[in-house]
Amino acid sequence: MIPANDFQRQWQDIQEDAVAAFRATGASGWYILGEEVRGFESALASYWGIQHVIGVASGLDAIEIALRILGCQSGDSVLTTPVSAFATTLAILKLGAVPVFVDTGDNGLLNLDRCRDLLWRRPDIRFFVPVHLFGHALDVAALRRIREERNVHIVEDCAQSIGARSRGVATGTAGQIAAVSFYPTKNLGALGDGGAILTESPEWRDRAAVLRDYGQSGKYRHELVGYNSRLDELQAAVLRRAMLPRLNRWIDRRRAIAGKYLDGLHHSDVRLPGPPEGSESSWHLFPILLPAERKPELLEYLKASGIMPGEHYPAIVPDQPIMAHVAFEFADDCRNARRFASSEVSLPIHPYLTDEEVQRVIEAVNQWKPR
Ligand SMILES: Cc1ncc(COP(=O)(O)O)c(C=O)c1O
Repeated sequence: MIPANDFQRQWQDIQEDAVAAFRATGASGWYILGEEVRGFESALASYWGIQHVIGVASGLDAIEIALRILGCQSGDSVLTTPVSAFATTLAILKLGAVPVFVDTGDNGLLNLDRCRDLLWRRPDIRFFVPVHLFGHALDVAALRRIREERNVHIVEDCAQSIGARSRGVATGTAGQIAAVSFYPTKNLGALGDGGAILTESPEWRDRAAVLRDYGQSGKYRHELVGYNSRLDELQAAVLRRAMLPRLNRWIDRRRAIAGKYLDGLHHSDVRLPGPPEGSESSWHLFPILLPAERKPELLEYLKASGIMPGEHYPAIVPDQPIMAHVAFEFADDCRNARRFASSEVSLPIHPYLTDEEVQRVIEAVNQWKPR
């Protein structure tokens, strides 16, 4: 089976560096918020080209804490996308805030013109969580303009977009604050959970550091209702010593695989939804689209052909069962988003996929004969 991700092959490659990271952490005798976390935060800040990185326990926490830093409270409306990992919306719900879902474009990513129009019509919406989905960069300059024109607070969800650029500019730099995930499948994945907040503001960096650690501003001095959301020393050590040094190579490999798919896939039922204009994608995922009624058949066929497909995401967020019990709003009918969810299939894309496996995936899709 060609898996969607291959952590065994990854382990073969990284194990020496990962074990060295464990040894260094063990030998230090310091397991929470020590040198490894600080070292990783500053290494990621240089990689990203941003002033401050604050390690937290997950991407979910990074979004929630970032929203809180910007002042988001219970009852506030937060514009976001209906096509994302549920965590994007969950972070909003956990604050008691109200997600407002606006439709996406055909490629499953937010349509920023639509977002701008909505924000003109709805000055009560003061928070916005755009998602750079699939490793595709939304237009960062447009996000910056929206922020400035509408005076809206933006948390960029960069869980899937490490390494992606929009007209040469890294995602997460629209000017306020961004959230990252180190969930193992991500382009920069840990050997477990982890996340980070990115910001240029020293004030927000300090606030994030207080919030992640019980709201503690100094030892035994609690000023905020905080969280236990610290990035572990062990995960930070692995990320810094084993993963980050390989990240550019991994992203190059993802781009090469995406290039082969884009050149090689030719099937009359299959569409390839590209990144937005100006986006240099880091290809976290490789989505393809087909007529909704054929999707179950392609999923079955790929599995039978020894290829593990994915779905990102089979249902839009507002259609999830829990949403029947919480406050949210549709800004429009979210028609494109629904169509996208019902017709999307993800092909395997990870740095350890061989050329021969990529070729097998291309041939399997091209030879598919729908009934
Ligand atoms: C777009 C997006 N946002 C948020 C998250 C949440 O990250 P985590 O799983 O680290 O909480 C994820 C990952 O699962 C994601 O893909």
